[in-house]
Amino acid sequence: MELVTSTTNNQIISRWNNNVWKHLPKRWGHSFHPMCSYLAMFPPGIPRYFIEQFTKPGDVVLDPFSGRGTAPLEACVSGRVGIGIDLSPLAHILTAAKVDPPTLDSVLTRIDELRVSYKRPSVDNVPDNIKMLFDGRLTLPQIVYLRNELSHAKKVDKFLLASLAGILHGNYNDAMDDSSYLSISMPNTFSMSPNYIRRYVKENHLHKLPLDVFEKLTVKVNRLFKNGMPSTRGYAYRANARNFASLRNPAFKTSNVKLIITSPPYLKVVNYGTYNWIRLWLLGESIEKTNEDLLLDDKHCINSYERFLGDVLNQCERVLRPDGVCALVIGDVEKQDKNAKRKSYNLSEGMWDRLKQRTKLNFFTTIKDSLPEENKVTRIWGKTQGKATKTDRILLLYKDKLPRPRHPYSAQKIISNLLSPNLHLR
Ligand SMILES: C[S@@+](CC[C@H](N)C(=O)[O-])C[C@H]1O[C@@H](n2cnc3c(N)ncnc32)[C@H](O)[C@@H]1O
Repeated sequence: MELVTSTTNNQIISRWNNNVWKHLPKRWGHSFHPMCSYLAMFPPGIPRYFIEQFTKPGDVVLDPFSGRGTAPLEACVSGRVGIGIDLSPLAHILTAAKVDPPTLDSVLTRIDELRVSYKRPSVDNVPDNIKMLFDGRLTLPQIVYLRNELSHAKKVDKFLLASLAGILHGNYNDAMDDSSYLSISMPNTFSMSPNYIRRYVKENHLHKLPLDVFEKLTVKVNRLFKNGMPSTRGYAYRANARNFASLRNPAFKTSNVKLIITSPPYLKVVNYGTYNWIRLWLLGESIEKTNEDLLLDDKHCINSYERFLGDVLNQCERVLRPDGVCALVIGDVEKQDKNAKRKSYNLSEGMWDRLKQRTKLNFFTTIKDSLPEENKVTRIWGKTQGKATKTDRILLLYKDKLPRPRHPYSAQKIISNLLSPNLHLR
């Protein structure tokens, strides 16, 4: 365990925090979590730890940058009300599918209905960059049909779109001569650039297989429901974190959020538009859609990042209860010093130094979390582009009352609670 704090309560905090999430098995968590891979997602154990320490069943837990919905799902699984906000259409649909899911029966019935009324649509207008990924006889027409038919406003259809996004592309399993994914085999789970894919296909002599989408979707959906439904329903909004407090949610109106646990985008580390271009196409976006169009805040320099986080903290302060806690997971980044040498920069504390004048939230502590190198998604781009390091820090802030963890004397107790009786091992 490593803990960095500038307050005098070092010893008290180290008693209740033991970076507990590290002691959970790698694939721990509800079976909805792996619905679709997502860049820079955090392991479910991180939000769950803070949920266990700072909230009770029935409390409201918010993530204003919900990504694939990890934190709001953990809230709903543990009897809290999870709220997830994200500006990306992909993140939004994944979060919505997890916090307000339909029943398994209704999903399976809808797949049957769609299968029965299937009519092969024209694929003439499908962009070439999409055509190169899927077999044109069976798979692509079925995908296009579902893209046209599934409604973004219906719960059951949203769940299907989110599940389909999850199997849209990935690695073909040669050993088993089968794939749960619909595309030609792709080296990574995020969308590589079209040129890269074209080269990869040529070099590896890849062939497109005629895969039945309805069949693959049925298998996927059954797998997702392995752990049943989360015990409570939550909320998902496609909205900007800079002004989320005005959304019409009862907990925002009455400042009733007990915990905010989130990981904002940091500087230029991950481009959430470009690296999701295939899944965004499925959701009706044009494949030229860039981050500028999506208005995502993932390309800031330090100064504009400070203004952005300042705005977000203001919103957080408005919706938190007086005894509310706010945990921000922010990774260290690489920066060039004066001699053009790359150095690790503690972005979370650097930001807090600048932000403390702008917010009424108070500093409690910073918890250091080092990730194994191979787990850091951004490592794939190599030194020049991936500006993330393997160190994350959790900046813990509070509104009015000093936070009181529920399990101050034994972090270990949380692990045993999490491992039984509901062992969520996928
Ligand atoms: C680090 S990811 C969150 C990942 C999430 N913790 C998970 O486990 O999946 C940051 C998210 O911020 C979203 N985002 C970027 N700018 C935003 C904004 N202004 N408002 C809301 N969401 C935004 C991105 O779409 C991305 O999903």
